[in-house]
Amino acid sequence: MTACIVGWSHGKFGKLDGETSESLIVKAATEAIAHAGIEPKDVDVIYVGNMNGGFVRQEFHSSLALQAHPDLRFKPSTRVENACATGSAAIHMGLNTLAAGKARFVLVVGVEKMTELNSAQAGEVLIKASYVAEEANIEAGFAGIFGKITSAYFQRYGDKSDALAKIAVKAHKNGVKNPYAHFQKEFAYEFCRNPSDKNPFVAGPLKRTDCSPVTDGAAAVILTDVTTALGMKQAIAFRAAEQVNDFLPMSRRDIIKFEGPALAWKKALTSARLDLLDLSFVESHDCFTSAELIEYEAMGLTAPGEGERAIHEGWVERDGKLPVNVSGGLKAKGHPVGATGVSMHVMSAMQLSGTAPGALQLPKARIGGVFNMGGAAVANYVSILEPLR
Ligand code: COA
Repeated sequence: MTACIVGWSHGKFGKLDGETSESLIVKAATEAIAHAGIEPKDVDVIYVGNMNGGFVRQEFHSSLALQAHPDLRFKPSTRVENACATGSAAIHMGLNTLAAGKARFVLVVGVEKMTELNSAQAGEVLIKASYVAEEANIEAGFAGIFGKITSAYFQRYGDKSDALAKIAVKAHKNGVKNPYAHFQKEFAYEFCRNPSDKNPFVAGPLKRTDCSPVTDGAAAVILTDVTTALGMKQAIAFRAAEQVNDFLPMSRRDIIKFEGPALAWKKALTSARLDLLDLSFVESHDCFTSAELIEYEAMGLTAPGEGERAIHEGWVERDGKLPVNVSGGLKAKGHPVGATGVSMHVMSAMQLSGTAPGALQLPKARIGGVFNMGGAAVANYVSILEPLR
C-alpha cells in the first residue's frame, strides 16, 4: 500500500450545455480540494486527464486547473492522455509522483466535453484511438471496432445478443440509482434485445443500447501518501495499481481474448494477494456491452467463451456474488473519455467510504476493483482499492 485517495468530486455527467472543459475542470478541482479538507496551496502537483483530440477547440488543458484558485499558480500541471484510459493514466502519474517523493498532495482531474460534436463527428475523433494505418476506415467510429470484435466473438462462441441485452438492462437499472449518471432511466429487455427505430444497429451486431453514449463530464481526486492519509478525514488506499499495454494493431493479437486486460487483472490480484471473489464489486470498462462480456472472462470470473454465464446467472447484478458496474457503468453513467477512469475511482471511493448517495450505496463494500481500458484492450489499468482504516 503506497498511496491513498483522500478527497474526491464527481459532477453530473450528460449533455452539459453551457459548460466548457474549463468550467468542468475548475468545479471538479475546487470540490475535490475542499472534500479532502486541504487548501489549494497544499497541492504540489496536478495532472489533467483529457483525451480531447478535437472534441473542442481548446487543446491545451493543463493550466486550466490553475483557474480553480490563485494559490495554484506556478504548480506543475501536466495533461495526460492514454485514449479511454486517460483518467486512470492520470491517476497513475499521480501515484508515480508520490512514489518518487516529489509531492505530498497530487490533484488529478479527468475531463471531457464531447457533445459539441454530433455522434458521427465524435466517432471521427474517437477512431484516432485505433491503429489508423489498418483500422480507421472501419464505419461507425469506435463502435465499428467493437462491432468487429463482437462479430468475431459471435463467430467463435455463438450469438450472445441475449447476454448483451441483459448487460444493457443491468447498466440502466443501476444507473437509475446514480444521480451523476447521464441516463437515469430503465430500459426494458425487449427494447435492448430487438432492433427498432429507437434502437437501430450501429455496427455489426451492436445496437444503440449496446453503446456507451457521447457525454460531457469531469471528476477529480486528491492523492497522498499513506502516512499523511492516516491524519485525513477519509482515506481509500490502493492495494494494487497495475498497467499493461498491448500492441495497438488488432491484427497482431487474438482480439477476443483481451490478453492485456487479463494480465492487468492477474498482476493486480497477485500484488494485492486476493482472489477475484474477495472483491465486493468491480467497476469495469463497458464502453460497449460486448466489452463487459469479454471482461468477465479477462478478470477470471468465467472461462473464455462463457462470459454470458455471469449475466444469465445473476453473478454481476447489484446483489450478485460480484456486482459489476453498480454505478451504471459507462453505458448508463456515460463515458466522457478523459473523465471515465477518474470517475470509476471516485465511484469506488464513495462505495468504500460508505458515502455513495442514497440507494447507490452497496450494503457491504469492503474492497473494490476498477478496470479502465484505452482503445480495444490496448492500455489496460486495474486498481484495487480498500479503506485505509
Ligand atoms: N444508449 C442508449 N440511448 C442512447 C445512446 C446510448 N448509447 N445514445 C443516444 N441515445 C438516445 C438519446 O438519448 C436519444 O434519445 P431520445 O430520442 O429519447 O432523446 C436517441 O438515442 C438519439 O440520440 P442520438 O445522439 O441522436 O443517437 P445517435 O444514433 O447519434 O448516437 C451512438 C448513438 C450509440 C452512435 C453514440 O452514442 C455513439 O457513438 N456512442 C459510442 C461512443 C464511443 O465510441 N465512445 C468510445 C468508446 S471506446
